[in-house]
Amino acid sequence: MSGSHPADRWALGCLLLFHGAWRQRAAGGGSAESRRPRPLRPDPHALDSIYFTGFAETNKSFVIARLAKRPNGICEMWLFLRVEGTGEFEHPQHPNMLVSDESEEIWSGGGLTIEYAEPQMHWKISFDGLLRKGPYRQQWSEKEGELVPVKFSFHWENFTEVFDFSADSHPSAFARAFAQEPWTFEFFQRVKKQREQHFRHEQWGQSVGEIEIENQEKTELSLKGVRSHSYGIRDWSEIYRYVMILAHFEDGTAAHLTVINMPATTTHLTVGYVFFPNGRKAGIEWSNASLAEMAADGVIGDKYGVTFTAGGKYFDVSATLDKQACPVVYNGLTGRGVFHECIADFQLNGLTQGWGLVEFYYRDEAAQPVPNLQLGSKAEGPDLSS
Ligand SMILES: *[C@@H]1O[C@H](CO)[C@@H](O)[C@H](O)[C@H]1NC(C)=O
Ligand SMILES: *[C@@H]1O[C@H](CO)[C@@H](O)[C@H](O)[C@H]1NC(C)=O
Ligand SMILES: *[C@@H]1O[C@H](CO)[C@@H](O)[C@H](O)[C@H]1NC(C)=O
Repeated sequence: MSGSHPADRWALGCLLLFHGAWRQRAAGGGSAESRRPRPLRPDPHALDSIYFTGFAETNKSFVIARLAKRPNGICEMWLFLRVEGTGEFEHPQHPNMLVSDESEEIWSGGGLTIEYAEPQMHWKISFDGLLRKGPYRQQWSEKEGELVPVKFSFHWENFTEVFDFSADSHPSAFARAFAQEPWTFEFFQRVKKQREQHFRHEQWGQSVGEIEIENQEKTELSLKGVRSHSYGIRDWSEIYRYVMILAHFEDGTAAHLTVINMPATTTHLTVGYVFFPNGRKAGIEWSNASLAEMAADGVIGDKYGVTFTAGGKYFDVSATLDKQACPVVYNGLTGRGVFHECIADFQLNGLTQGWGLVEFYYRDEAAQPVPNLQLGSKAEGPDLSS
């Protein structure tokens, strides 16, 4: 290959990577979702993560829940919600996120439980325990705050098919990212390894259920959002920064756009997809999104705008962040990273209303030192830290 034009080498590289993905998909192996949490790989950074978002869209109610199994009986757990007219709530553990993994059969930790009823189509998400009443904490504090008993149970059903990031992403997204990096064989090997180690499936759907706060009357909720399943190996220290946009629009369009900097491989990868109202899915081919513009200074702004193309269409998406609902989670596994989960209102092409969030991750942001970082004192289950 020596002497060939750089663009040709990138084209060849992409071809090899994507051929691998297609082969894997054709064989039905590797990236298919399993029925149960899969046994974690023998790696200190093994992961099996389930993440749900749900937005009422007609009012300000939402639920965000995440449980990621990690080695040594630990889970990363996120839980934030808001009920219109009642207030914001978060897990008392936050801004810490580590709790004990309470089951091998399902995802369970910190009072939160996520289980399959049927692979890819029906899920159950429930919680029974204490939550801290808002406003959301922006930093760690010894004060417990106002803890109230909360119970909820949702049944989730998909209204789109699955977007598999390995197989369905647009090859141009990677080609562009690779073209910005110096070509070496080692680089190619690292990219290949990353693709073989980490998988992500996403699907949009509706959660229907009830929530009971402080033994008050039950509120019925019907929410729309994403279900994301990410598994394989995820070493947070390999990620420097990212911004992820997740939005669902009133015309039925759903979109995901991530701009991510992973210094060992791609320092500027923009990847994502659109589900069209008729159910068709398309990987994002091009975007003007830039980490330099969106996340250079570590200050979360009020408004963000991105444009991108997918499935032969042009999208102009603007997000207005809800500063009341921008909770923070410290990355307890590295002790240095901080996630900001910012609820936002969206506009598509200037006229179509949308709901969702913008998630920011800053590895270099100094998290407030948290005593007992391994497992917080309010984790349910056995206290592994003592
Ligand atoms: C729900 O998910 C299943 C499995 O992925 C898929 O076959 C079905 O088409 C999806 N339903 C809709 C409405 O997209
Ligand atoms: C808010 O809107 C959702 C979806 O329409 C609905 O299910 C819920 O009952 C409404 N009210 C509250 C308090 O969340
Ligand atoms: C991308 O386009 C949007 C909408 O026009 C704009 O707000 C944003 O500043 C652009 N980003 C960059 C990096 O040019």
